[in-house]
Amino acid sequence: MMAQISITACNGPGAEIGNVDLSHGPDDDDFAAIRQAFADHGLIFFRGQTITPEQHIAFARRWGDININRFFTPVDGYPEIAEVRKEPDQATNIGGGWHTDHSYDAEPAMGSILVARELPSKGGDTMFADMAAAYDALDDDMKARLEGLEAVHSSKQIFGGKAAYRVESDAGGRLHNPDAADALDDVIHPVVITHPLSGRKILYVNAAFTTGIRGWSREESMALLMPLYTHALQERFITRFNWEPGSIAFWDNRATWHYALNDYQGERRVMHRITLEGCALH
Ligand code: SIN
Repeated sequence: MMAQISITACNGPGAEIGNVDLSHGPDDDDFAAIRQAFADHGLIFFRGQTITPEQHIAFARRWGDININRFFTPVDGYPEIAEVRKEPDQATNIGGGWHTDHSYDAEPAMGSILVARELPSKGGDTMFADMAAAYDALDDDMKARLEGLEAVHSSKQIFGGKAAYRVESDAGGRLHNPDAADALDDVIHPVVITHPLSGRKILYVNAAFTTGIRGWSREESMALLMPLYTHALQERFITRFNWEPGSIAFWDNRATWHYALNDYQGERRVMHRITLEGCALH
């Protein structure tokens, strides 16, 4: 019999969940504990798992509806799973900059469950930053300044037909459907949201998809946003996750940013990502 499920907080944001086998589907008590850890930490990790794509999908479905990714190539036979792949001859990678997935959607995705499938011999870590802690650490003047502000978010500059990422990079060639990005209307979210699960205030802007503050010029917007981004990337808000065979990371897109490091040139890295539908943010 397996020992009782364990939840161990990381040094930075996140917690590692132990003594659970996701291939069998955790029982209801273990699932409730995992759900609570996810709400508390916004970022959870599992080690030593062996799960098939079917089991990945089954675990994801326990959390809610799956978002079928518009831009990433799906895993063959599994439209629910987006493939995050970098080939040895490829210079750029998917997710190689600080971002939160899907902030360009009116109802941004709740989270993503990323399973390691093929790892480089070294490198390829993912960094995560805690946007609740980043908000809490702002001074009162800045918190007052952000109150009531709204930000514009867009997928075009990353995934659209004219995006530098697509035009200049080989990663672009492995994504698909720039028309979907170009057709998508920009969306507005509050700069500070109340997290739907934890009730905590979250700094909800990111360098990849936030294009500015609603009603402000680009210059005015960047004068506010750039120092916020610098603030949010202090080491104390960051966890660096080192992938091993059998590792799984599950992050809350509303509560965290992430960044896939691209430091394993000449080797392959393949990950399977399922993204879960979210809700409107306030
Ligand atoms: C992503 O941005 O979803 C990819 C993360 C990773 O490959 O580590």
